[in-house]
Amino acid sequence: MNKIVFSGIQPTGELHIGNYFGAVANWVRIQNSGEYDATYCVVDMHAMTMPYDPPTLRKNTEGLFIDLLAAGLDPAKSTVFIQSLVPEHAELQWIFSCICSFGDLTRQVTFKEKSEQLEGRQDAFVSAGLFNYPVLQAADILLYRAGFVPVGKDQEQHLELSRTIANRFNRTFGHEYFPEPAVLATETPKLLSLNDPTRKMSKSLGPKSYVALFEDEKNVRSKIRSAITDTGEPASEIGAGALNLLGLLRATGRADVAAAFETEYATGEQRRYAPLKDAVADAMVDLTAGFRARRAEIAGDKDAIRRLMYEGAEKARVVASQTIKDVRRLVGLPRR
Ligand code: TYM
Repeated sequence: MNKIVFSGIQPTGELHIGNYFGAVANWVRIQNSGEYDATYCVVDMHAMTMPYDPPTLRKNTEGLFIDLLAAGLDPAKSTVFIQSLVPEHAELQWIFSCICSFGDLTRQVTFKEKSEQLEGRQDAFVSAGLFNYPVLQAADILLYRAGFVPVGKDQEQHLELSRTIANRFNRTFGHEYFPEPAVLATETPKLLSLNDPTRKMSKSLGPKSYVALFEDEKNVRSKIRSAITDTGEPASEIGAGALNLLGLLRATGRADVAAAFETEYATGEQRRYAPLKDAVADAMVDLTAGFRARRAEIAGDKDAIRRLMYEGAEKARVVASQTIKDVRRLVGLPRR
């Protein structure tokens, strides 16, 4: 398999620690390992698949681009860009739509979840774009012929479909042109919601579900303090929420502190979760303070940000346009 990495993230609001520990921390690690050719993308066209407000989308897209730089992406080492600035994504999406089966798309869980989320909402409108969402995702990945995709657990089914599409393309057009991309997961591929540990941490569950990456100390402490630890597990087991907090400690590099709590919980009569919450809150405050400082530094220079956005897209287009050229030839479209 090649050493090409691609991943993307939607500009739907604040970046949270689920995104960070499930994916973005891995992006930075992969970038800094120097072993991969990595491309990371703010997928603004994916964010159009649910009802949205245009000025907010534009603001969130630029904001997330800055967030990613503050979180450690370095345009000198990785390609970092905005999806809609590279029109080849939409073009490949159409070509893939014609080799992706309707049946495969109807089995996508995220389509069911997202269309259900819309039910009863005043702005409810289930678009064909929402149905086609995973085809655009496959186009994102395969445009760069990536073999590895660092994402959280919730993206596994989309990745499986990307492999199906790559495979069908290769069989249909008689060339081993696309690799079948594999997931690269972190040790926390599914962080649970702080206020409902039966579900994954997500913005759609409200701000109490997550800690944002640039959140201030007061909010961080209050959210962790009110995190739910038990969800009715038998007394002999550590609660799902508490396990989630232990995972967060490990993710921040405090595995020794997590291990000490685990030993105490395994032997103790009673589990005291308040000290665990204090330790997690301290770790989160350190993390978010560092990110806030870095973001403030970067965000001031608007011209530099704009320049990086357009340079990133140009760099991505060099690869993307070559893929489109090859694909157009293979599928029988005229040379441009
Ligand atoms: P998105 O924008 O919802 O999430 C971005 C990344 O964060 C991960 N993530 C989590 N990981 C662990 N625990 C959580 N609670 C949690 N919540 C989110 C996601 O798994 C993801 O890796 N469809 C994608 C965006 C996308 C994409 C792509 C990804 C579009 N094209 C091509 C990879 C490759 C999405 O909506 O991610």
